[in-house]
Amino acid sequence: MQLRVVTDQPWDVPADVLAVPIVGEPKFDGVLAELDKRVGGELAALTSFGELKGDRYSTVVAAAGELRAGRLLAVTAGEAETISRQVVVRIGSAVERRLAGRTVRSLAIWIGDLGAHVDGGAAVVAELLARGVVEGEFEPATIYRDDYKGAPPALEELILVAPGADAAALRRAAERGVIIGEGANLARRLANRAANDVTPEVLAGEARALAERYGLSIDVVEPARAVELGMGMFLAVGAGSDNPPRMIVLRSGAEGEKDAAGRRLALVGKGVCFDSGGISIKPAAAMEEMKMDKTGACTVIAAITTVARLAPGTPLLAIAPAVENMPGPHSARPGDIVKAMNGKTVDIINTDAEGRLILGDAMCYAEKLGATHLVDVATLTGAVGRALGDQMTGAFGTPQAWYDDVAAAGERAGERYWQLPMIEEYRKDLDSFYADFTNTGSAEGGLVKSALFLREFATVPWVHLDIAGTAYFSKKTPYAPAGATGVSHATLVELALAGASKTA
Ligand code: BES
Ligand code: MN
Ligand code: ZN
Repeated sequence: MQLRVVTDQPWDVPADVLAVPIVGEPKFDGVLAELDKRVGGELAALTSFGELKGDRYSTVVAAAGELRAGRLLAVTAGEAETISRQVVVRIGSAVERRLAGRTVRSLAIWIGDLGAHVDGGAAVVAELLARGVVEGEFEPATIYRDDYKGAPPALEELILVAPGADAAALRRAAERGVIIGEGANLARRLANRAANDVTPEVLAGEARALAERYGLSIDVVEPARAVELGMGMFLAVGAGSDNPPRMIVLRSGAEGEKDAAGRRLALVGKGVCFDSGGISIKPAAAMEEMKMDKTGACTVIAAITTVARLAPGTPLLAIAPAVENMPGPHSARPGDIVKAMNGKTVDIINTDAEGRLILGDAMCYAEKLGATHLVDVATLTGAVGRALGDQMTGAFGTPQAWYDDVAAAGERAGERYWQLPMIEEYRKDLDSFYADFTNTGSAEGGLVKSALFLREFATVPWVHLDIAGTAYFSKKTPYAPAGATGVSHATLVELALAGASKTA
């Protein structure tokens, strides 16, 4: 896709479609009045007919009249004071998705006064709109079929229309947005692929191909070496499947190198290629969704790739423990006692609480490789989805200053997190007669306990992002299809780039 920033008035821009965001209740003054006049009053007429009402991301397509574009697409942006970075991304996606199944080669989007509502102004809006359009192109229905007709158009050209702006600055920003959007889509595509397609070994192969392409170092730890390293929790989860586990380690920068912020940041992502629950098997309803239980791994693999594109050589680690959680003759059983890489013993009382087991060893390994700061991202608990739904990711962290750094990266990325407490009193619910602790307690406060468990494996600043609610949508929205959302990819990229000494 070619990117262009033009400073012409929107009616002077030739394109197949010109998209126009409308802030607040449609008021036809200024540029909007001129646009409406040039489409023969159709925009105002459609509005009074009842289009563009209510929610944001509602769209209407009108004939182009005297515009140089082929069609006009209006999209509601919501009330001015509620416009956020996330809203701007989603406007871009909603525009692109509204054109699904249509033949559109060039899309122009008028930035309008969105810049007035977002800190960072027009350049940030250009970045976020471009990212949104690219994310809007993602269509999981095309992964396994080539006859699908309803996909959003593969654009040849995206034109951002910003009269009076610094075109070069906006273009650079938009290019960054395209790369971040492509990274999110890489994560989404991997996450959406089926478990009979993406086994731990296949995921490692995908990581290898990306490493080669983007100049990352890669090391894939196979079971024999995991035994030597003492990754007893990781191995116990992987043991139930014929598809052996892989601990995927990607690195940019030199071994042991610190980034410009003085950190050696490691991103750790849960890679359960299928979570049947193991011997503590899950009920059949919606079990197929558990092919997405590798989303955290896909996200960290994509994030380090994106960072390599935007700021090559930035010191960064991405660690993805990849397993299949299956019942079988070699599976871990409830009551099995295993030893983690840090020497702690764990009483596995529920084999379905497997994510924390593989993450614990991966976090220890990250520290062994010199990580000074950890962020893990995982589809860890059903409870987080029940608590926060699919719009807000639950997060934990310690110390608070590190949590705040991650939250600030989330703000820059236009993603939403809600910090949850690590309630000390609940730790004793993980006490075990046989081992240092169990992997689950009673269900009450289970979300908090999952974080208390993970905390046992961090000795450096650590943040845990539980994306089980936000990683995929069960229903489509105007801005995204059902399936993987790419959530937290942009946050991790922003966080890592805070340690980049130079960006490309
Ligand atoms: N992968 C699941 C969590 C999950 C549930 C993700 C629903 C997405 C949608 C995780 O491994 C799991 O099974 N968690 C259990 C933990 C329990 C056994 C303590 C859960 O949440 O029920
Ligand atoms: Mn599970
Ligand atoms: Zn799981």
